[in-house]
Amino acid sequence: MENHVFKNNWKSDTPKIVRGKGIYLYDKDGKGYIDGSSGSISSSLAHGRVDMAETLRKQAETLAYVTRLTSITPLYEEVSSVLADNTHMDRFFLTSGGSEAVEVATKIALSYQRYREKPNKTKILSRWLSYHGCTSHTMSIGGNVARRSDYISQLTEDGHIAPPLCYHCWFGKERNSCNCECAEALETEILMHGPENIAGFIFETIGGSTTGAATPPLEYYKKIREICDKYDVLVIADEIMCGYGRTGKMLALEHYGIKPDIVVLAKSMGGGYFPVGAVGTTEEVAAPIKAHGSFMGGYTWGSNPIACATVIQTTKIIHSENLLENVTNMGALLKSGLEDLMKKHPTLGDVRGIGLMVCTEFVKDKNTRESFDPEVNFTGKFINNAREEGLLLNAGSKYNKGIRGDGALIGPCFEVSKEEIEIIVDRVDKALSNTEKEVL
Ligand SMILES: Cc1ncc(COP(=O)(O)O)c(C=O)c1O
Repeated sequence: MENHVFKNNWKSDTPKIVRGKGIYLYDKDGKGYIDGSSGSISSSLAHGRVDMAETLRKQAETLAYVTRLTSITPLYEEVSSVLADNTHMDRFFLTSGGSEAVEVATKIALSYQRYREKPNKTKILSRWLSYHGCTSHTMSIGGNVARRSDYISQLTEDGHIAPPLCYHCWFGKERNSCNCECAEALETEILMHGPENIAGFIFETIGGSTTGAATPPLEYYKKIREICDKYDVLVIADEIMCGYGRTGKMLALEHYGIKPDIVVLAKSMGGGYFPVGAVGTTEEVAAPIKAHGSFMGGYTWGSNPIACATVIQTTKIIHSENLLENVTNMGALLKSGLEDLMKKHPTLGDVRGIGLMVCTEFVKDKNTRESFDPEVNFTGKFINNAREEGLLLNAGSKYNKGIRGDGALIGPCFEVSKEEIEIIVDRVDKALSNTEKEVL
């Protein structure tokens, strides 16, 4: 059959997957692969769940679509209550994915400022190395040099600060003995632009593919919240990857005891069964927009009934099967198993992350934390070797200033068992040994 697919990657041969069951994906020849990164840390639930399939089927039969421009469904109201109960936010706007949700979140921030008579507060500050999506606006507030470079002419610049990536600290500090200079950098940035011009600060609570599960120290978000409050700047948490259970809490910011003004969700809330995203706001953020009477934003398929039903069912499963606890326990096991590999592998420089969102970073020199030359293609070789071992993983994306840096993001589905974690660690071990044989 002639191949008409417009691919993301024409250089690498990826397997043709036809079926999934549990943590496994199967290609057309029946070979099984562990879905080690849950798609793109998106399939929070195991593959092939009959209860999820039944939810989608039933909803499609009952009501597949209605536009929110002419009507509202009880399901949209129900899913909003479910999301409110689970995240402690007050109002929810549904989209069909993450980038759309970030677009909506920043529009809400601007509308909020405008309708409370702060029309100059229009800039959205963010962090270098972050990823907030693939539209031009979300790429603009994103900060990954490699991902942005082809489209730089289309991007705008509101202001970026250093990321809280302790392994490659931009301030030359060490975790636990620093003053969170990377958080203090936000105050400087706000002052340089003028607080009267800043609408919000957006960040990935736990870094995604571009900082490799960077998990800031506990004081980091406390400082961020204080600085934002001081200058009347909205705290916008992009929890598209780390939210809805992935770290063992419904919101990753719960680990820090901080509440955002706006939160953005996607991936895990749909279980991996249906495209969906959401923006949650506090009542305080919604109030001026509500008083104004309308909000210009949104997309055709947002809040469609099948997405709503999928989120409700995913949430039920997360709680009825105690999956937050399993994520916490299996995440700890995964992390300690990978940390053990550090003793044996000269290139495994760092293992970081929380819950089932763990990054292995590979370096040329553990003492200096020097990264490999990109020409070496260490990540590409490792991903290929992992695939040979029957483990599909997401490549990391140049954590070291966006120019170099190798690694992979590991995060199986929430139901993963102890035995399966052991198999994943074993396959990482073998794939890394084979990569080191090729490179060192
Ligand atoms: C933190 C974060 N924000 C935004 C996005 C964009 O979401 P989507 O790919 O659903 O548009 C992603 C996707 O990986 C993400 O990880």
